[in-house]
Amino acid sequence: MKIGIISDTHDHHENILKSTEIFKQQGVAYVLHLGDYVNPNSVRLCQGLGMQGIFGNNDGDKFRLVSAFQAIGGELKGDFHEFQQDGLKIACYHGSEPQLKEALIKCGTYDVVMYGHTHACRNEKVGNTLVLNPGTAHGFGEKPTIMIFDTLTTQAKVLEI
Ligand code: NI
Repeated sequence: MKIGIISDTHDHHENILKSTEIFKQQGVAYVLHLGDYVNPNSVRLCQGLGMQGIFGNNDGDKFRLVSAFQAIGGELKGDFHEFQQDGLKIACYHGSEPQLKEALIKCGTYDVVMYGHTHACRNEKVGNTLVLNPGTAHGFGEKPTIMIFDTLTTQAKVLEI
């Protein structure tokens, strides 16, 4: 199953719409957003993706963000999201506290740990844990990126928007 991963969109509407199109073309089953939407109106651009998300450190309007997710048929899980997919135990955390992020990666509990926040792509194994960061879909003057993760092959690829 292909899962879309996106993070740190920071209200970049054009890139959010481009990312939504790419995810649809790639046939992802759903999309995980790893936080830093900022304005709840940004979330409403992600229609039709079955988007699930977590809060980032710049997501202050929590009530309206949760409502925006509900309006597009998605779900905002809180600061942390843990789930199972195709036999993989997966953790999602924005990464606001680096020590907590490192503890998640090194604890050995998870097959995959996904985070954002640093705006730097990452796709590497730490022990038996695959560590993924899709980079930032905003770009901030650098190349904006998103990620597709195949839960059957456990291969992840970075796509430039
Ligand atoms: Ni952040």
